[in-house]
Amino acid sequence: MRSTIPRHVIVSLSLSLAVGCGQNAATTDGSHASAAGSAPSQSGAGGSSRAGASTNGNGTTAMSTSGMPGAGVAGATGTTGGAATSAGPAGAGATSGSSAGPTGADAGSTGDVIVTIKNGDFWLDTDGNRIEAHGAGLIKVDDAWYWVGEDKSQNSANFKAVNCYRSTDLSHWEFRNAIITRQTSTDLNAADRIIERPKVVYNDSTKKYVMWLHWDGQNYVTAEAGVFTSDTVDGNYTQIRHFQPNGNMSRDDTLFKDDDGKAYFLSASNNNADLSLYALTDDYTDVQKQIATLWAGSYREAPAIMKAGSTYFIVNSAATNWDPNQQKYATSAAMDGSFSSLSNVGDGTGYDTQTAFIIPVVGTKTTTYIYAGDRWQDPDLVSSKYIWLPLKVSGTKLVMDWYDTWQLDVTTGEWSAPNDNFISQQAWSLVSVDSEETQAEDGHATNAFDGDTSTYWHTEWKAAQPRRRTRS
Ligand code: GAL
Repeated sequence: MRSTIPRHVIVSLSLSLAVGCGQNAATTDGSHASAAGSAPSQSGAGGSSRAGASTNGNGTTAMSTSGMPGAGVAGATGTTGGAATSAGPAGAGATSGSSAGPTGADAGSTGDVIVTIKNGDFWLDTDGNRIEAHGAGLIKVDDAWYWVGEDKSQNSANFKAVNCYRSTDLSHWEFRNAIITRQTSTDLNAADRIIERPKVVYNDSTKKYVMWLHWDGQNYVTAEAGVFTSDTVDGNYTQIRHFQPNGNMSRDDTLFKDDDGKAYFLSASNNNADLSLYALTDDYTDVQKQIATLWAGSYREAPAIMKAGSTYFIVNSAATNWDPNQQKYATSAAMDGSFSSLSNVGDGTGYDTQTAFIIPVVGTKTTTYIYAGDRWQDPDLVSSKYIWLPLKVSGTKLVMDWYDTWQLDVTTGEWSAPNDNFISQQAWSLVSVDSEETQAEDGHATNAFDGDTSTYWHTEWKAAQPRRRTRS
């Protein structure tokens, strides 16, 4: 079924294809929203080698609202384990566009909080600043989600801070704290320090929030994991250790806490050729033992783990630095390392993104699993964006389609997307481009509207500066 959301809620398109990064170019303006929550839950992903820059961003969402009569669920445009949603017709108060304020999304007569996720824009926090939380990790605590990630506002791959934001609706994000900075420890203050892909889980016994991350140094040769703890999710974290788990190199990483309270760390090892899976100690601050070496020699990284029904999924990327590539996934009936071979998910470039995290949104009717990806822009890492897409789960099958915008009913856990939010391929011309691959490469900006779904465009990444071009 399709959504009947009024068109005006959907996007404000700019007709001048202002290309900033990524493929599927149409830009809109950003925004976000706000909403609901419960006890700590989560999952994660990790890093690798070379240089970069950054952004702030935020994300996403505009919010819409729902609530009105008729809002609610309607059917589905492919949904995950379940239902689909849609905001209802009566659209009334639906806000369009940009940056919703902190309390943006209203609840309507159904009481549901429905937000709109808008991909392709910079995402702003509730103060109007770009959200700086790349290589994301999320954890839900009581009624709020907390998003931790890399601050790349200094437009460099080097460490500035890990920031933490809070939202009750996955849309309106309040900046809470730089939970580690260069002042947190002497080690972190090293000039060439690189910190990526922080993930946080909560330990019910020690009552500590435990953060694991990719700890590195110049040219990513240090290749370690770092561990930090805090009494509060958004507090100042204390450094516990940085090390090579089981003597292995460790780059892109994720953390996963299972329903039975056991926690796992997964990271790229053997110079990114393998992914190594570890069971953590009871307090989650160390590795108890290595459980498996996954897809040895396949050069997979950027892992994220989720559990849907009784199936564990690992989504990951190939190791191509900041450039996007085919995301893949595998499944297992247990976290014992018996994962399947890898299958493709999303298009050949992950819609110009790299996996960072999977957010389970557990609602009153169903659970939606959100793929949280980074659309890196290199050079100019500061202009990287966040792309969030709903995953469609069916047994051990995972599908990820592209949506410029889609709606999430945070209350019920359902999602929907209009089937008409594609931009016409007709009559576009390139007015300007901020960055694209060189003429010798394939990803030119005009590919964004050539009507061929097998082509893609991508920002230039080899040269020191983006090429500039005006008019064509
Ligand atoms: C990627 C990795 C990123 C970052 C980048 C640096 O492969 O996933 O987190 O490390 O390399 O080039």
